[in-house]
Amino acid sequence: MEKLVISGPTSLKGEVEISGAKNAAVAILPAALLIDGVCTISNLPNISDVKLSCEILEALGAKIKWIDANTIEVDSRNITTTQAPLNLTSQFRASYYIIGAMLSRMGAVQVAMPGGCQLGARPIDQHIKGFEALGAEVVVEKGLINAKADKLIGGSVYMDIVSVGATINVMLSAVLAEGTTIIENAAKEPHIVDVANFLNTMGADIRGAGTDIIKINGVEKLTGDATYSVVPDQIEAGTFMLAAIASKGDVLIKNCITKHLESITRKIIEVGGQIEDFGDSLRVWCDERPKHATIKTLPYPGFPTDLQPQMGVVLSLADGTSIINESIWDSRFQYTDELNKMGAKINAQGTRAFFEGVDHLEGAPVYSTDLRAGAALIIAGLVAEGETEIYNLEHIDRGYENIEEKFRNLGAKIKRVEE
Ligand code: EPZ
Repeated sequence: MEKLVISGPTSLKGEVEISGAKNAAVAILPAALLIDGVCTISNLPNISDVKLSCEILEALGAKIKWIDANTIEVDSRNITTTQAPLNLTSQFRASYYIIGAMLSRMGAVQVAMPGGCQLGARPIDQHIKGFEALGAEVVVEKGLINAKADKLIGGSVYMDIVSVGATINVMLSAVLAEGTTIIENAAKEPHIVDVANFLNTMGADIRGAGTDIIKINGVEKLTGDATYSVVPDQIEAGTFMLAAIASKGDVLIKNCITKHLESITRKIIEVGGQIEDFGDSLRVWCDERPKHATIKTLPYPGFPTDLQPQMGVVLSLADGTSIINESIWDSRFQYTDELNKMGAKINAQGTRAFFEGVDHLEGAPVYSTDLRAGAALIIAGLVAEGETEIYNLEHIDRGYENIEEKFRNLGAKIKRVEE
């Protein structure tokens, strides 16, 4: 078993280069199954969720060639089966994108119910509602999802809930359908725009991604023969921004789209941090103890749930009492028990948590309960006095590329050791 050992406290200083977005990459890879041709995808984060996505594509018959650590060529001319390997699809959440992509390309698919971080109930009813509106038949039974359609025909889908996954999945299923599909109350996250841009580059006709109405005019075929670079990861950028604030550091975050980070930028300024915006990079620094704040997580462009635990570390060190209301996931405060082991004073009740700011944290053995909880514990370990050991690294490795190396370059004393 591996663990991270961090000796703190450290004030982070220097520059960090942001990788491609995990949540865009894990949707773009299945989207490549729609192409009756070859495409090249660059700026892919080298993380375990991307490797898993590639394995699923290969099991379906696609050929993948790694050009370098962050670039692959995908040849989807010959899809050989509609049965996705159950042991792989059950391992992570984004495997649900295989359904939309394969329905569109092959008219049938079988996958396992998706796994992924345990953040509370994670239904897929809105995905299914969308597929059915296009004429598919979907049966969920004994942990398996079977979907088929003789022919998909464009339709109108009103999402009852703003859902990133359902918006992308219905978009995937509509690309090769006959006629026009309209998705209303669509999610607007940057990775939705990125998936639409990827598909349009390959020959699709998708309009309005990034707004709450997306229109997809079905096309006969996607031919590929193009290269696409994945958008920078706004959650990774936000993680380093919040690490800079928590550690009273001074960090230049390079290769990010600062427009995607506005909700975080505003909160950082509210708690006393400072920001210089260069458009594709941000300098973030803080000289004083953060101030308390109230935060509610919301779909984009609101404050992202995927930065809530990292912000929780900042607020556990703030001057005064802060409140976080988590409105996306029922169970995203599991990390607070771990922070409390380090001396934080957090009282989490359901989807709301109260943070009574303390003046310092102390190192302790802690367990990462999900991906972003793991990132929060790393930040806590950096600012805590003494040694912190973090276990369950598989969660962190799912979504952050070279995380120790990136923090080490900023002065952190962090190492991965085998127990
Ligand atoms: C995506 O999950 C991200 N994952 C999550 O990132 C992120 O937390 C989440 O969006 C919200 O931003 C990927 O992109 C792979 P949703 P997703 O559908 O698509 C409810 C991370 O750490 N809902 O937008 O699964 C759902 O229960 C992670 O990188 C339904 O009720 O999230 C939730 O309350 C973890 N029915 C809300 O909608 C549905 O059919 C938003 O979920 C679908 C969702």
